[in-house]
Amino acid sequence: MKSSRIWRTKTHMRRKRINMGKRIILVGATGRVGALTCADLVKAGHEVVACARGASKIPASQQVKPMTLDLHDPLSQVTDAFRKSHADAVVFTAGSRGKDINQIDALGAMKTIEAAKAVGITRYVMLGAMYAADWLRWEQPQVKPAIDALADYYVTKNMADQYLISSGLDYTIIEPGSLTEQEGTGTIQVEPDGPGPIPIADVAQCLADCIDLEQTIGRIYNIIGGSTPISKALTANQ
Ligand SMILES: NC(=O)c1ccc[n+]([C@@H]2O[C@H](COP(=O)([O-])OP(=O)(O)OC[C@H]3O[C@@H](n4cnc5c(N)ncnc54)[C@H](OP(=O)(O)O)[C@@H]3O)[C@@H](O)[C@H]2O)c1
Repeated sequence: MKSSRIWRTKTHMRRKRINMGKRIILVGATGRVGALTCADLVKAGHEVVACARGASKIPASQQVKPMTLDLHDPLSQVTDAFRKSHADAVVFTAGSRGKDINQIDALGAMKTIEAAKAVGITRYVMLGAMYAADWLRWEQPQVKPAIDALADYYVTKNMADQYLISSGLDYTIIEPGSLTEQEGTGTIQVEPDGPGPIPIADVAQCLADCIDLEQTIGRIYNIIGGSTPISKALTANQ
C-alpha cells in the first residue's frame, strides 16, 4: 500500500476510534439546501467533501474539501470519487430542478447509493420530497394537488427513495414540503395532515442533525414548518 494511502486509512480509523467528527460526502453542496447543510455539518464538527459540478466555487477550508462530481458520470467514476473520499456517510441534496429528473433525481441518486455500498459507507441521508416515498398516499385529497403539479418528478423521487430503502444502508429520508427562503426557526412539524411550506434552513438542519442521531436510522420523515424543536421532532417515537 502506498504511504499516503496508509496515512489516510490510519487517520480515518483514528477519527472513528476517538469519535471525532465524521467525514461526510455531501452531494449537491452548491445548492440552496446543500450550502446550508454544509455549514450545519461544519458547525457540528464534521468534515465535508462538498460535491457538485460547480464545486470549484465552494471555498475550501480545513473542514470543507470541494470535489467536482457530475451525476451524469458513469457509476465507476462516482464510485472512485467516493472511494478516495474515505467518508463515513453520504448526504444527498442534489436535484435537477425538473430539468433532468430521470438522470439526476432518480439515476443520479441511485448511483450514489451504489457507490456508497461499493466503498463500504453504511450511512446515507437522503433529501426527498413530501410523501415521495409513499405513493399510496398520492391520491388522498389533501395530498393530490401537490403531487399532480409535479407528477413525474414524484415518480423519480419515489424510485430513489425505494432504491435507498432496499439498499441495506442505514438510511434516513427527509421529505420536506415546499421550500421557502424565510429564516430558519429551528422547529418543524413531522407527519402533518397535508403539505405545507418549510424554510430551507430548517430542512438543512434536519439533514445535518440526522448524522449524529442514530435514532433516525431506518426512518422517513414528512416535514413542514412547525413548533417542535428539530432534534426532539426527529427523535420522537413514531
Ligand atoms: N423546491 C422545493 O420546494 C422542494 C420541495 C421538497 C424537496 N425538494 C428537493 O430539494 C432538492 C434541493 O433543492 P435546492 O433548492 O437546494 O436545489 P438547487 O439549489 O437547484 O441545488 C441542486 C444541487 O444539485 C446539484 N446538481 C444538479 N445537477 C447535478 C449533476 N449533474 N451532478 C452533480 N450535482 C448536480 C447542483 O450543483 P451543480 O449545478 O453545481 O452541479 C446543486 O448543488 C430539490 O432537488 C428537490 O429534490 C425541493
